[in-house]
Amino acid sequence: MTGHWALYQDTLVPRQDAKTDIEDRGYQFGDGVYEVIRVYGGKLFLAEAHAKRMERSLRELRISFPNCVERVLKGATLLIEAEWIDDGIVYLQISRGAASRVHQFPTPDPIPVFSGTASPLPRPVQLMEQGCEALLLPDIRWLRNDIKSLNLLGAVLSKQQAKEAHCHEAILERNGILTEGSSSNLFIVSKGELLTHPANNLILNGITRQEILRLASEKAIPWKEKSFTVDELLAADEAFICGTTTEIMPLIQIISINEQNKHERHKIGSGLPGGVTRTLQQAFTRLVEACAAGSGNKP
Ligand code: PDD
Repeated sequence: MTGHWALYQDTLVPRQDAKTDIEDRGYQFGDGVYEVIRVYGGKLFLAEAHAKRMERSLRELRISFPNCVERVLKGATLLIEAEWIDDGIVYLQISRGAASRVHQFPTPDPIPVFSGTASPLPRPVQLMEQGCEALLLPDIRWLRNDIKSLNLLGAVLSKQQAKEAHCHEAILERNGILTEGSSSNLFIVSKGELLTHPANNLILNGITRQEILRLASEKAIPWKEKSFTVDELLAADEAFICGTTTEIMPLIQIISINEQNKHERHKIGSGLPGGVTRTLQQAFTRLVEACAAGSGNKP
């Protein structure tokens, strides 16, 4: 369980008083959306971008939730102040609400349930420094991964399988193409160029991913939103995963599962974090430090 306080319908309540109806559609169907927002030094990081993505996810699910951006920023601020978060995360979700169970949208519209928690989380400094391993798995998720929906079973099963293989992340392959990680986006550096899957229905357009592309332009690192194959990943000079909790984490080894169900290990590049990855990590850390040093909870 997380913290002493929870957000429930825009208000702080003691954690134990925040309860979900058993017919909540988030609970029964995964019918809702969520966001995870980073907090550095007690300040929200890139919060407005998260709030806007939540608004988009809601629109795609046709859940009406007026003034989403303002309410998300207010709710996140209430939580980090109540929990005295220094480095941590805010988790926010909005479900379509509670109604008798039918698949189609209930009429009239139920009242959406807006809830959230905040918890401390240090930066993953050791993994960012040393790099991590990832398990290559088929992408078994649905075809609207651009929506940050509560339906996460594909991610849950993949991440568990990665954990059982002693890997930090599962990276997912659909029709020979790498899409993303189970809870992160994926980049490679190939022939001096940074590549990542285009932001279409097959991936979540990560806020960290977008920030990295911006930093790459700033640093004059050539980049393209272009999909790549497993062979291209294995032949890449560098690879990394990224996300709100992951930041920029070098991938140094990939484990694939062969036809005999045996693990095969593949080193990426030299097997050590690469130069482009390091440059982007340093630029990203400067943003983190500027956020933590800032005044007030500016998004
Ligand atoms: N996951 N892709 C997927 C499938 C994700 O679940 C996430 C984030 C990302 C990275 O997005 P962002 O940079 O906006 O965090 C990409 C969150 C952190 C989670 O589910 O916990």
